[in-house]
Amino acid sequence: MSTHLADALAAYRAGDRARAANLAGRTDSPLGAELSAYLTTDGAGPVYDQPRAFTAFIRGGGNVELYRRLSAELAARYDRLRPESLLDLGCGDGLAVVPALAQSSFRPSRIDLVEPSSGLLSAVDVPGANRFEATAQEFLASSGSTWNLAQSTFALQSIPSAERAELLRNLCPCTATLVLAEFDVPEQPEGSAEHLHSLAARYERGVAEYGEDASLVAQGFLLPVLLGLVADEQRTNWEQPAADWSAQLAGAGFAEIDVEPLADYWWSPAVLVTARGSHAG
Ligand SMILES: C[S@@+](CC[C@H](N)C(=O)[O-])C[C@H]1O[C@@H](n2cnc3c(N)ncnc32)[C@H](O)[C@@H]1O
Repeated sequence: MSTHLADALAAYRAGDRARAANLAGRTDSPLGAELSAYLTTDGAGPVYDQPRAFTAFIRGGGNVELYRRLSAELAARYDRLRPESLLDLGCGDGLAVVPALAQSSFRPSRIDLVEPSSGLLSAVDVPGANRFEATAQEFLASSGSTWNLAQSTFALQSIPSAERAELLRNLCPCTATLVLAEFDVPEQPEGSAEHLHSLAARYERGVAEYGEDASLVAQGFLLPVLLGLVADEQRTNWEQPAADWSAQLAGAGFAEIDVEPLADYWWSPAVLVTARGSHAG
């Protein structure tokens, strides 16, 4: 991995966009070329409001195997727990929930889908589901419903930690079981040389997985997420190590918290976290 890339991220973090673009352009890596191009244009805007890049991202590269495993694990839980009511917080365009429902022999009689992006929500193919175009925070503040099973796959990472703690406290009395899919990211001091090198090396692996879609995925999704992690102003992601997910769930009142490996992935290992809420269900 070129040190110019980590230096480019450091320059961006320091607010020097022009120097960051220059350093990125001096690398011979595909990520460097994409970063340089991104920084010399206006960027692509909010990552989930222009679904084409995000859709190409989650349907390609290592996401194919990740989502194959995720859907199979969710389907196994539907069959085992037989939840009459199912909530999916931040369902996106349904890449996890749709194949999971197709694979399970049990079908919940009520399915509530919550997603703030109208473009993604309208693409979810679950006939008969209730759809709520809202953030998880807005939805739970006004819903008054309860569920046998709530799930959220790679979506609660989109909520800042303190807000997420409050959301989980609101969710705990409303669900019997919660299952989360998230990434077990390493603990690294933000902005440290170790952190910036690690981000550059991992995003290089990520971009390399996308072949002819690399520019679409990098410009419309991966780079805004990466730069949000580097410089906070337009941050889209607040991930944490698996142990911190467990602690946050325990702090919100969840019990019997269990973390299982789901899949290896270019960014970090993916895990499934299952926890018991305080709703009798
Ligand atoms: C990485 S995608 C995952 C989508 C889907 N769960 C899946 O596994 O394919 C993250 C999703 O979280 C949604 N999201 C962002 N902020 C959210 C919030 N505050 N509440 C609920 N969902 C949110 C995004 O719109 C996006 O659909």
